[in-house]
Amino acid sequence: MRHERFRFTDASQLRAKAASLNIELPWSEDIELLLHPTDIGGMAVPNRLVVQPMEGFDSSETGEPGELAFRRYNRYAAGGNGVIWFEACSVVPEGRSNPHQMMITPATVPTLKKLTAQIRQTAETTYGPSHRPFLVLQLTHSGRYSFEEKQRSGVRSDQEITRVMTAYQEALTLAEQAGFDAVDVKACHGYLLHELLTAYNRTDSQYGGSFENRTRFLREVFTTPSKILKVMRLGAFDLIPYPQGFGMKNDGSNELDLSEVKRFIQEFSHLVPLWNITAGIPRIAPHVGRPYDRGAFNATPPEEHPLEGIARLIRVTGELQQAFPTLKFTGTGYSWLRQYYPYVGAGVLKEGKASFIGLGRSSFAYPDSPRDLMITGKLNPKKTCVACSKCTEMMRNGGPAGCAVRDTTYNHRNLKELKKNQQDSLISK
Ligand SMILES: Cc1cc2nc3c(=O)[nH]c(=O)nc-3n(C[C@H](O)[C@H](O)[C@H](O)COP(=O)(O)O)c2cc1C
Repeated sequence: MRHERFRFTDASQLRAKAASLNIELPWSEDIELLLHPTDIGGMAVPNRLVVQPMEGFDSSETGEPGELAFRRYNRYAAGGNGVIWFEACSVVPEGRSNPHQMMITPATVPTLKKLTAQIRQTAETTYGPSHRPFLVLQLTHSGRYSFEEKQRSGVRSDQEITRVMTAYQEALTLAEQAGFDAVDVKACHGYLLHELLTAYNRTDSQYGGSFENRTRFLREVFTTPSKILKVMRLGAFDLIPYPQGFGMKNDGSNELDLSEVKRFIQEFSHLVPLWNITAGIPRIAPHVGRPYDRGAFNATPPEEHPLEGIARLIRVTGELQQAFPTLKFTGTGYSWLRQYYPYVGAGVLKEGKASFIGLGRSSFAYPDSPRDLMITGKLNPKKTCVACSKCTEMMRNGGPAGCAVRDTTYNHRNLKELKKNQQDSLISK
């Protein structure tokens, strides 16, 4: 069994472990690299640190972000993050994976607009007018993971898929009205648009079979004229054999093959300046995209060391970034590295293996890690994510989700109360 928990008290131990596993872990002490400004599609971005989309499942039943969501996003802004990538936001009520998932509809626009304005204000008050975080809204339809039974079962007809596509197209305008800088048309983690990318066996459908058909939905949305910039979170490999998995060799093995992924990025390169690379289907094999110490609900640990998963994500993102140097790529899977993520992240930037470093679970635990880097040049080990999967458990239990270890709002006792409030609000409906 190669899986091990994080037990390093200094950087040299971590690097020695990587070396003993034959892993080349990029590394640089020049953490200023993480704080350099850049741009996305011509819009200024204050630094290279990205809050990855993380569902809090704390919106109202009509999809408006609630008090906890306002708190979360304001903490990200006060923490100095350069890009704040909003969580999966459903384009239709029946596409939600949870009754408290955020939605983008004409009715939720005013609350979302209030939230984007508040975040910008928080950032400006904290860092001055030149620090303007870039705000991305992730659009989603949960497909087979929708919480409503009738949505999960059965295969969607082409007509239904086309109707969902229209909702995505409408969401482009709504997101712009709500004050976002960009929308992410999410194609990862087993949700609807990722399902379509792997619909190799969906014959007799304009959305399945050939590459042309499997990418039709995305092409239609990305070529829809809109004022708002479009970007993409893409699951570049699944580690699930073809034809269920994307980015895999078509011989049924568990080996990666990025040729279709590259063809896809090439075809969309003139439409999508920013790519956020992720991997795997969390409900099947969560360690692929989010290497951890302890799996949710005490799941059996995987047969690989977390550093192997991290190195795979870095390698694939690096290969794509180097194949498409004019585009910008965001890497993921850094939270397990705790206080050492800045050195690995700076190494990745230095080697040209990504343009941005994304932080998911770490953002729940330590939303102000960029601020600490700016002020002290290092991170506080007492504030880091411990990769315990409690946030995933909260999410699977219906939310709200946050960090049970570092954020007292979500500790065991308070969570009971938060959950009860959430359930009462559903019952009173
Ligand atoms: C509680 C939780 C919620 C998540 N929600 C989303 C989401 O809404 N959209 C998405 O693309 N990924 C989501 N993810 C995946 C993260 O964005 C990220 O890819 C993953 O946690 C790995 O990065 P990390 O090692 O920095 O945590 C979620 C992960 C967790 C644990």
